[in-house]
Amino acid sequence: MPQGLTRTTVGIVGAGPAGLMLSHLLARRGIASTVVDHRTRGQIEGTSRAGILEADSVRLLTDTGVGDRVLRDGRPHDGIELRFAGTSHRIDFRALVGESVWLYPQTDVFTDLADARARDGGDVRFGITDTRVTDLLTDRPGILFTDADGRPHEVRCDILVGADGSHGVCRSAVPESARTHYYRAYPYAWFGVLVDAPPSAAELVYTHSERGFALISQRTETVQRMYFQCDPAEDPAAWSDDRIWAELQARVGGVDGFALKEGPVTDRSVLPFRSLVCEPMRYGGMLLAGDAAHTVPPTGAKGLNLALADVRVLAEAVAEAVLRRDRAALDSYGPRALRRVWRAQHFSYWMTSMLHRQPGDTDFDVRRQLGELAGVVESAAGSAYLAEAYTGWPARRVG
Ligand code: PHB
Repeated sequence: MPQGLTRTTVGIVGAGPAGLMLSHLLARRGIASTVVDHRTRGQIEGTSRAGILEADSVRLLTDTGVGDRVLRDGRPHDGIELRFAGTSHRIDFRALVGESVWLYPQTDVFTDLADARARDGGDVRFGITDTRVTDLLTDRPGILFTDADGRPHEVRCDILVGADGSHGVCRSAVPESARTHYYRAYPYAWFGVLVDAPPSAAELVYTHSERGFALISQRTETVQRMYFQCDPAEDPAAWSDDRIWAELQARVGGVDGFALKEGPVTDRSVLPFRSLVCEPMRYGGMLLAGDAAHTVPPTGAKGLNLALADVRVLAEAVAEAVLRRDRAALDSYGPRALRRVWRAQHFSYWMTSMLHRQPGDTDFDVRRQLGELAGVVESAAGSAYLAEAYTGWPARRVG
């Protein structure tokens, strides 16, 4: 079968929010790109993902013409509850740092960007197979794949971007001798559920309990998202609705009588939990962005926000390289992006270790965590640190 060939300026592997936002930002600067993804649109839209957007992430969407739906359907949250020893303590983001976050699931961000790319005539190809990247150390790297109709195809570009997530082909195409992985595993995971029930709280409730962490989040007036810390080997099918509700209620219960409004569990899964940074974020003509370069545990709600921050910086570096015909402009991307990445790594690790129970923890460890939590909620400086990190460090200060 004849092989198809597409020539473009930027070839992007991965049509998640990072890849699509990059393609969108480049198009606004008049730079052509082609995006490919092995998943179909339906598969991406059918996967439950986290739901918090930082203030700057919302600004990026609204400033570039893809913010209509987040402004209409997203819900601004002016704070979160930290719940421990059976009582809730509000961290008031607006009062502390003058910012809010938005509850707006990643799947919706994806839909908005995919619609915008389709509307603007963007070249996005879903449902491809056998993806490989090649000639990364030349000035004409390529993406080889089989298209959705089963035909071999090749994309040749000036710059290749790997935005294909933590299990994608791009990062593993970098020889091990050319990358360092900074990695941390955690001896627990999250059990995530979607439930048909009214909201139990107006804001997110991050809960420390002797039985382990729980998070109460929301989706709509009739659908809620909740998580509880579990063993990574836990089998979601082994949990009946009754058992899930008993565990969640036991973790959030307390002297103030707080209880969750229950309903049928419609989706359950165990989510992996790890911290990873791959450095450098560039290998020759290929740059990595989002989860392809780094992963955070979900406790700080930073994953999607970091991916969007990466491509905001990357779009600038690529534009400079293309418009000035100078690939050296690409050198600034990794070091700039990594400043935010490592701050977010610390914040995600800190929230995680403050709120979760480790196997083998002693009573000392639990009381030490309670002391740490009291230090956060009873100190303006402690609360402000959390509020500033959670709502996101402003781009004008952290690249
Ligand atoms: C979610 O709503 O899915 C969510 C919110 C906050 C997190 C993680 C997940 O930290």
